Amino acid sequence: MSNKAVSKKKDLNVGIVGYGFMGRTHSNAYLQAPRFFDVAYRPVLKSAETDWRALVARKDIDLIDIASPNDTHAEIAIAAAKAGKMVLCEKPLGRTAEEAKAMVDAVEKANVPNMVWYNYRRVPAVVLLKKLLDEDRFGRIFHYRSQFLQDWTISQDLPQGGEGLWRLDSAVAGSGVTGDLLAHNIDMALWLNGPITEISAMTETFVKQRKHNLTGKVEPVKIDDASAFLCRFQNGSLALFEATRHARGHKALFTLEINGERASAAWDLHDLHRLNYFDHCDEGQLRGWKSVHITDGDHPYMKNWWVPGLQIGYEHTFIHQIADFLVALDGNRTAAPTFRDGLATDYVTDAVLKSAKTKKWEAVPAA
Ligand SMILES: NC(=O)c1ccc[n+]([C@@H]2O[C@H](COP(=O)([O-])OP(=O)(O)OC[C@H]3O[C@@H](n4cnc5c(N)ncnc54)[C@H](O)[C@@H]3O)[C@@H](O)[C@H]2O)c1
Repeated sequence: MSNKAVSKKKDLNVGIVGYGFMGRTHSNAYLQAPRFFDVAYRPVLKSAETDWRALVARKDIDLIDIASPNDTHAEIAIAAAKAGKMVLCEKPLGRTAEEAKAMVDAVEKANVPNMVWYNYRRVPAVVLLKKLLDEDRFGRIFHYRSQFLQDWTISQDLPQGGEGLWRLDSAVAGSGVTGDLLAHNIDMALWLNGPITEISAMTETFVKQRKHNLTGKVEPVKIDDASAFLCRFQNGSLALFEATRHARGHKALFTLEINGERASAAWDLHDLHRLNYFDHCDEGQLRGWKSVHITDGDHPYMKNWWVPGLQIGYEHTFIHQIADFLVALDGNRTAAPTFRDGLATDYVTDAVLKSAKTKKWEAVPAA
């Protein structure tokens, strides 16, 4: 892009709350998006504030981006919407659907652009899968299954709470792997396969007590270490979901498979640039699973990157998401997932946790 085109971009002043893992991915995305995508805005990362209230009060901030732990999301998002700022928020939107609903009400009442960082929707292979589904290449969908497997909390000596370990503290995180990991699987499933209507779930806390970093005392662990559920989708398909932090050997294995009448597809995060696709309409003697390398110019987002055959990775999903947000903003449109989409996922995670307690099938409300 010429320097002239770059200089024409309008400044969008961004205030990011939280400079941990997600703060890094987001700040990188704001800087890279206008370099690789034809967007009308140039995000400007304003100087850091130690108190988010001071950031929200600043007149020179257009957009508040919440990349802090889950217990901060609602309060910051509601204050930012009231101040008329655009609000982007990390997932899960709220610790509960009730919290998320208040956030949706706030951004919709203030009529401010909003988006939740379910970044895996922007993996090119997953976007291609969505396109194939929208083109009705699969026919009737029978099955959906999805997992998110990790192994980092197996040690009983790992404490809970405080910087870096807030995910194990239910007061901060809301839930364990249900809100932290399954939320990603659910958001993607709702986007690809439509609404979930009812759920039967089980959860387990394998390590019942851990030292709390903030109090120094051994305290009960109230988050779920593992969570699995069966569900029905509105389109009639049956599904299986599982997330755990106790699957030894797995670090971030996010998988999905979808089986339709005419085709099936499978994807996983460890091989994120490949879409595995089986087309029953192929000639019989050559029919089989294809592993398509999603790096060509006609694959989603890929013409903006390198040359065919060269891969991109995790950080690009955030760059794609902010680029899409900026394009939508310029066209006065919304970019998904919106806060209302984030609420739909929170309704599902609430139903998972409820069903695990009641040991009954639970209905999922529509967002
Ligand atoms: N989209 C994804 O794939 C993804 C991945 C990881 C985390 N997340 C989400 O992002 C959020 C942050 O997670 P993380 O892994 O970056 O956490 P982190 O612990 O690495 O970073 C959190 C940051 O927030 C700061 N912070 C804590 N309380 C604050 C407050 N009251 N005001 C301002 N800053 C505060 C901390 O000092 C830290 O810099 C969580 O909601 C998490 O669920 C999303």
